[in-house]
Amino acid sequence: MSRILVVFLVLGVACSLADPINRNDEVTLPQLDGRIVGGLDTNITFYPHQISMRYNGNHRCGGSIYRNNQIISAAHCVNTLSGPENLTIVAGSSNIWYPTGPQQQLAVRKFIIHPNYRKLNNDYDAAILILDGEFEFNEAVQPIELAKERPEHDTPVTVTGWGTTTEDGYLSDVLQEVSVNMVENTQCKSAYSIMLTSRMLCAGVTGGGKDACQGDSGGPLVYNNTLLGIVSWGTGCAREKYPGVYASVPDVRDWIIKTVEENEFVGKIDFL
Ligand code: ARG
Repeated sequence: MSRILVVFLVLGVACSLADPINRNDEVTLPQLDGRIVGGLDTNITFYPHQISMRYNGNHRCGGSIYRNNQIISAAHCVNTLSGPENLTIVAGSSNIWYPTGPQQQLAVRKFIIHPNYRKLNNDYDAAILILDGEFEFNEAVQPIELAKERPEHDTPVTVTGWGTTTEDGYLSDVLQEVSVNMVENTQCKSAYSIMLTSRMLCAGVTGGGKDACQGDSGGPLVYNNTLLGIVSWGTGCAREKYPGVYASVPDVRDWIIKTVEENEFVGKIDFL
């Protein structure tokens, strides 16, 4: 029964994208200045956990460094791939085309998708990537700790990435940061109804205009220097009354810690 409801909802959201009335709403959005939706240029040294996940050399998603050989990203960034071949992780540069410093690049040895990940609604949208080798930490390359709980409604949180700067726009060459506010799930349900699960959290601003967008997926939503969310989905980008949706790190934290421990030595000790 609930499955049928979800299907209808998915269809409903898909249709609303093509709905001319919704399109008209966008005209009232603030003029965007061509940065992550509504964001500002930033420097990797302020967000040294941020990485660019590349497929055949092309930026595909964001992610966060958790250990010198482990990355946290979104399940939907890797679930369509047969394996980790052709995936590389680039750390240490603010610009995705022209390295701004000694950037580091490592191949991916394997990825592990959250066992409860559901493609239909992006529930448990979390994955861990184990690298072939180790990053050397410096001011532009650092791990981030996991948030233990969700901050309360309206708390400012920050999302970063090289994703598109408008809904149908282009990737940003310079890393963007944008400050958004926590939106309680009870309130976020008015936008997303049963598509929103308790493993998700929402963040946005009143009136829209600031959000993550395509290409930011898998990247970090940060609160208090901890990883609070993983960029996951949303209806369009930065639309009024449609906050961005994130996998909630406090709700997948135990799985991350367990999986990271189990894979601590993969890619490090080759003779085992
Ligand atoms: N799914 C998108 C990606 O793969 C991220 C979408 C985030 N959307 C949003 N409105 N916050 O990059």
